[in-house]
Amino acid sequence: NTKKTLDGKTVLITAGPTYEAIDPVRFIGNHSSGKMGFSLAEEASKRGAKVILISGPSSEKVSNKNIELHKVTSAKEMMAKVFEFYDTADIGIASAAVADYAPKEVAKEKIKKNDENLTIELVKNPDILKSMGEKKAHQFLVGFALETQNEEENAKAKFEKKNLDMIVLNSLRDEGAGFKNDTNKIKIFTKTEKKEFDLKSKENVAKDILDCIEGQLLK
Ligand code: PMT
Repeated sequence: NTKKTLDGKTVLITAGPTYEAIDPVRFIGNHSSGKMGFSLAEEASKRGAKVILISGPSSEKVSNKNIELHKVTSAKEMMAKVFEFYDTADIGIASAAVADYAPKEVAKEKIKKNDENLTIELVKNPDILKSMGEKKAHQFLVGFALETQNEEENAKAKFEKKNLDMIVLNSLRDEGAGFKNDTNKIKIFTKTEKKEFDLKSKENVAKDILDCIEGQLLK
């Protein structure tokens, strides 16, 4: 029986990968399963929050009506959905692995395999979390950093650049952390604090993250 510590709060969560179309049959994507974001959604709803979960392609399911699931495909669609609801959110958590680049043009027909080399021009996608940071009013904003090197330095830079209140770092150098696994190993940074956690199930990682958010909100 979880205490309803987030009763009356609205939590907006991005989850999963984005798929950026190349042609009608192909896309650029990544290995995100959505598990981390869906675990956060489940835990927040157990604590009494209304959850708006905006997810890229994922096979994860939601368990109850207090989680409003909006499925999107590309970064641009995710961005539009986020800003449909951002004003209503008390807490924003960006756990999605958004593609940083998308093909400049989407071929109308399937690209034929003719030449030895094929070049696809990519253009930068919007940074959803950065925009959330720029438009931040009453929201408590939490970002993720998925790193493979200079982890803490990169996470702190993202914390500043995106105007966050908290950042959750996971490193692909840690066994069992990051993509696809049912487990994750995180560090959490706020302006003044750093907390390090052991490898745990994503359900339990979600609890740690929400405990930290609640701790900050009560300050
Ligand atoms: O889905 P799972 O398989 O469970 O895996 C979970 C996870 C590894 C995807 C998750 O724990 C995680 O780390 N998510 C963030 C992945 C990521 O893309 O990190 P980043 O360091 O590239 O981005 C930094 C932050 O900016 C993230 O909060 C990201 O959501 C956000 N971002 C990034 C680019 C962009 N165009 N828009 C964004 O909002």
